[in-house]
Amino acid sequence: MKVLVIGSGGREHALLWALKKSPILTELYVTPGRPAMENLGVLVDMNIKNPIDVTQFCKRENIELVIVGPEQPIIDGLADNLVAERINVFAPSQAAAKLEASKSFTKGLCKQYGIPTAKYECFVDEGLAKNFIRSNKIKFPLVVKANGIAAGKGVMICNTENEAFAAINSMLVEKKFGESGEEIIIEEFLIGEEVSYFAFVDGLKAVTLGCAKDYKRAYENNDSRNTGGMGSYSSPSIISKDMEQKIIQRIIYPTIQALTNIGTPYRGVLFAGLMICKDNPKLLEYNVRFGDPEIQSMLPRFYENCDLLKLMLSVAEGKLNTKVVELNNKAAVCVVVASKGYPGDYQKGETIKGLDKIESIPGILVFHAGTKLDESGNWVSDGGRVLNIVGEGNTVEEAKGKVYSALNFLEWPGGFFRYDIGS
Ligand code: AMP
Ligand code: GLY
Repeated sequence: MKVLVIGSGGREHALLWALKKSPILTELYVTPGRPAMENLGVLVDMNIKNPIDVTQFCKRENIELVIVGPEQPIIDGLADNLVAERINVFAPSQAAAKLEASKSFTKGLCKQYGIPTAKYECFVDEGLAKNFIRSNKIKFPLVVKANGIAAGKGVMICNTENEAFAAINSMLVEKKFGESGEEIIIEEFLIGEEVSYFAFVDGLKAVTLGCAKDYKRAYENNDSRNTGGMGSYSSPSIISKDMEQKIIQRIIYPTIQALTNIGTPYRGVLFAGLMICKDNPKLLEYNVRFGDPEIQSMLPRFYENCDLLKLMLSVAEGKLNTKVVELNNKAAVCVVVASKGYPGDYQKGETIKGLDKIESIPGILVFHAGTKLDESGNWVSDGGRVLNIVGEGNTVEEAKGKVYSALNFLEWPGGFFRYDIGS
């Protein structure tokens, strides 16, 4: 089978690595990809913002499945364009992708279908939003969110009325988030344990992939800035089977039923950001794609005989077999190495050494999120999040030990990583 993967980050590198194992794969293409992916797939240069370019390439090369990594092309409707040309795609339609594109849409579904989530109200008017804050209907701390996608920056936790007013002003008056902030959500602050939960969904059927933990802050302290994710770990013990059932029954199934009811069934991977509040899971947000860096620590745990490509094709075709996708009982820890300065300004083009040595260590995987090759063939940094080093082990402790000892061989003074991933 000929497959095209769209994207260029560590998530897509990990997907290529896992897809490459499939016995039904004949050719693997990636666009835009990056040089580190060349040993897994053919890099194709095309404009992924132009769906005609993508569909034409797929028709010319007889691509049988397109897998879309990042959210933007999904939200822009790439899956609809491919489906219209009868090309199988692993990604939801634009209408179903509103789950990620519009928090007020998702909150509305939650209200209508009784899906547990934080108490909230939506506003487009600054005055009404401030009156709501003054009404004390939601106590401090509370959360002010931009409705649309805002690269992880559109969520503000406010401890005082002044902070809440400043957050409202930044979105509704100063329009710092553009269109994404034209509507806001004010919601209750939830206390609990945050997990990233994933399910494959093909309309009305869902199969659980389980969950991972993501480390969002740039450094070890909780006051540092939010990032796309500085690391993740995955193990069977993050949540109990009982909790998993609650998540599926109370959150995942009602959501996919709701989407089918309104005529926009969901196909693809559904990523629920959850807060486990005592014994009850509550939905923080949905994403319509794999988590990055969550999937980098989940894919190594797929059973050898579990064919990821077959599974993804069955989702795209609406023929998902509902037997549970078994991840093994082991653990994996993924540490993100980022350019110093990230998530703010950073340098690019710095030489990175030691990767050959790291890659040769048993139980260690290296995925590239932001590198390229210089003229002499050295790896150089080319982004904020640059490398994902993944350690596998029987336990999280073992995987963590492995990944941090491997990182001792990294020679890149301009990079940094957190020391507590897996703690
Ligand atoms: P979101 O983009 O909605 O996932 O929010 C980003 C991060 O803000 C989440 O991963 C949580 O850590 C935090 N957050 C968002 N909403 C809430 C909430 N209602 N209560 C507590 N923390 C929240
Ligand atoms: N790591 C969180 C995300 O992919 O959105």
